[in-house]
Amino acid sequence: MTSGRKALFKVCEPNMRAIRATILRWPKMPIGMPTGEQLFKAAVQHQIDGNLGEAERLYQSFLTDHPHRDDAYFGYGLLCLGAGRKEEAVGHFERALFIAPGNVDYWANLATANYSIGRINDAGYAHLRALRIEPGNIDIQQLRDDFAAKPHVFGESAIHSAHAPARQVYMSACVDILGKSLGDTPPPLRILEIGSYMGASLLTWAAAAERLYRKGCEILCIDPWGDSGAGQYKPGVQQALESQIAYEIFRHNAAVTGKKDNVSVIEMRATSRAALPLLGDKQFHLIYVDGGHFYDDANFDIGACHRLLSPGGIMCGDDLELQAHQCDMEFLRANTSADYVTTPNGEELHPGVTLAVHEFFGKVSAFEGFWAMRKQDGGGYQQVEFSGATGIIPGHWPEHLQDQARAHFAENQTIGALIG
Ligand SMILES: C[S@@+](CC[C@H](N)C(=O)[O-])C[C@H]1O[C@@H](n2cnc3c(N)ncnc32)[C@H](O)[C@@H]1O
Repeated sequence: MTSGRKALFKVCEPNMRAIRATILRWPKMPIGMPTGEQLFKAAVQHQIDGNLGEAERLYQSFLTDHPHRDDAYFGYGLLCLGAGRKEEAVGHFERALFIAPGNVDYWANLATANYSIGRINDAGYAHLRALRIEPGNIDIQQLRDDFAAKPHVFGESAIHSAHAPARQVYMSACVDILGKSLGDTPPPLRILEIGSYMGASLLTWAAAAERLYRKGCEILCIDPWGDSGAGQYKPGVQQALESQIAYEIFRHNAAVTGKKDNVSVIEMRATSRAALPLLGDKQFHLIYVDGGHFYDDANFDIGACHRLLSPGGIMCGDDLELQAHQCDMEFLRANTSADYVTTPNGEELHPGVTLAVHEFFGKVSAFEGFWAMRKQDGGGYQQVEFSGATGIIPGHWPEHLQDQARAHFAENQTIGALIG
């Protein structure tokens, strides 16, 4: 049955309020309807009232007897979307569309569900189909344009270092420090990032280049994106890499970033071992090491990046929860092939990063797991001073994490100024 009901889901992150508003626009069921219809009506009513368990039970029961009812699959899909079960929502919207492929609202909501799990190409296709049916539909045009223009950071595991949002602020402050100190060095500012994943850190570099550096900036991102090395991460990250969702989201964020006038993004899909030897000496002003965290990888990356970093440039990285002088060296050496471990004292750290940073630099400037060192003319390194620098609260991160970053800097006066 093709329903003529209008139900366009307009927001990226589903919430019950939007679903209620959508369902309330549905016309009332006629009185004296057959039992099956009463079941359907009751399912919708429970959904409106927020009794999702009961609504789901009734949808399932109704669909068992009425497997050709696209509107019931659609309602069930909205229920799943609102409950954060986005993959299931996709399945229900697709079933509704098998039955009623001409329904614009089903396509639009399928687009929303696909986008929210990082299937950006599928979302684009669903919008295309919707607009083929109703080329002048302004709501769907707007939705499509919003998706294309906004960074995507709410896919599963997208914000990799969500436990320490202040790190992004220190990262942006590195760009500010370089902008102030590179003096006559002509643009572009060249940034190398090893380990880009879905592009959350890329968005941080790009925002800093746009707001703090303001001249041309080139960002080279190196990552195998699941072609190798995914097995070292926790299941959500591994799955995102191997399914190529991480790469799809990265490509989207790189495209969004590339719309900034002064920023260009280049990607090399390879491991750092394959890619770094291809790059010339002293090419980069800022290098961010956030790729493989086993000791061998971190050690290789830091050593190879020394050659690539120009004097005056900053090498920095993620996931230095503890420095070697705070650890038992034997424990570190016994865990060189581990990503993330808990010490006998209950502290959590990336042992490979801690050991590799220690062996190359000794003690580094480190804040909340972010570390940074500045290269001297003679090739040595010194710690980085952030007290005169400006950092940016990561506007592409969820509000509550932005607040956490603000709280960190309210408590620690480690940075000169904070914007955003
Ligand atoms: C911790 S995530 C990076 C997070 C990202 N910088 C961010 O903040 O959003 C690590 C990434 O490193 C990549 N990676 C793993 N081994 C690598 C290697 N040998 N060379 C380059 N990248 C690697 C993984 O594919 C993964 O995407």
